[in-house]
Amino acid sequence: MNMVATPAMIALEGAGRVFHRADGGRVVAVQEVSLAVAEGEFVCVVGPSGCGKSTLLQMIAGLLAPTAGLLSVGGAPVAGPGPDRGVVFQKDSVFPWMRAIDNVAYGLRCRGVGRAERRAVAARYLDAVGLGHVAEAWPRELSGGMLKRVAVATVFANGARVLLLDEPFGALDYVTKRQLHEVLLALWAEGGTGARRTVMFVTHDVDEALTLADRIVVMNAGRVVEDIAVRAPRPRDTDALLRPEMVAHKHLLLRHLGLERLARPGTAP
Ligand SMILES: Nc1ncnc2c1ncn2[C@@H]1O[C@H](COP(=O)(O)OP(=O)(O)OP(=O)(O)O)[C@@H](O)[C@H]1O
Ligand SMILES: [Mg+2]
Repeated sequence: MNMVATPAMIALEGAGRVFHRADGGRVVAVQEVSLAVAEGEFVCVVGPSGCGKSTLLQMIAGLLAPTAGLLSVGGAPVAGPGPDRGVVFQKDSVFPWMRAIDNVAYGLRCRGVGRAERRAVAARYLDAVGLGHVAEAWPRELSGGMLKRVAVATVFANGARVLLLDEPFGALDYVTKRQLHEVLLALWAEGGTGARRTVMFVTHDVDEALTLADRIVVMNAGRVVEDIAVRAPRPRDTDALLRPEMVAHKHLLLRHLGLERLARPGTAP
């Protein structure tokens, strides 16, 4: 599937980013990353803390300029943030001074969509994430999991073709996280194969990556060190994660994350 000749939705060629610290030090956060993500692909990015995942995502989002290499989205070089890309950060991505529905409608408002239409679209996505009944609530009245639902509804309502999600569910409890996986995958699958958004999802959670991804990209010390195709059909329930090829992927990921003692001996790398 990834071998098709269509141009990549996200393309990086030798991309890198160096930071200069306040004390004069130099940090190579991302180096020599070449990656092509096809339209509609769901890619998870995993790797140890500090390996450059957020830096990579922020470069694609146009929030950080690369210091080396080439970077394009939808065939055009990335020159800054744009409405073609929706971003959800680990910390709250919700404006506290706007009601839930106005948060979800905000991107449409920025694009000049009229009030009635943008509220109708926002209401539809709030319904889809199970929050239709609290559309008029203020963020302070919502739980952490509900706020994440608002953030997910917002990126989908905005109509962005590329979704960049940086550990969006990292701080949530297991049940809420599993529910949000279903919500996210249902919205992603909406409209069928051709309509799928392209997703890059950063996570530390190996099971989360195996549940969600078409492909798992592993980073270490700023580089991409593994690229795993996950071919198991969806939905992937608990049994799906016990299939031999999924277990093999898990052992490989645990090794990459430095958890050799939890991984089966002899699994590469
Ligand atoms: N603005 C900055 N100035 C200096 N160094 C930075 C800056 N942002 C990130 N770094 C450094 O770049 C490296 C990669 O950081 P990054 O935030 O991309 O890691 P990460 O993989 O997202 O980590 P985590 O899993 O902990 O979120 C780290 O060494 C970090 O200290
Ligand atoms: Mg990070």
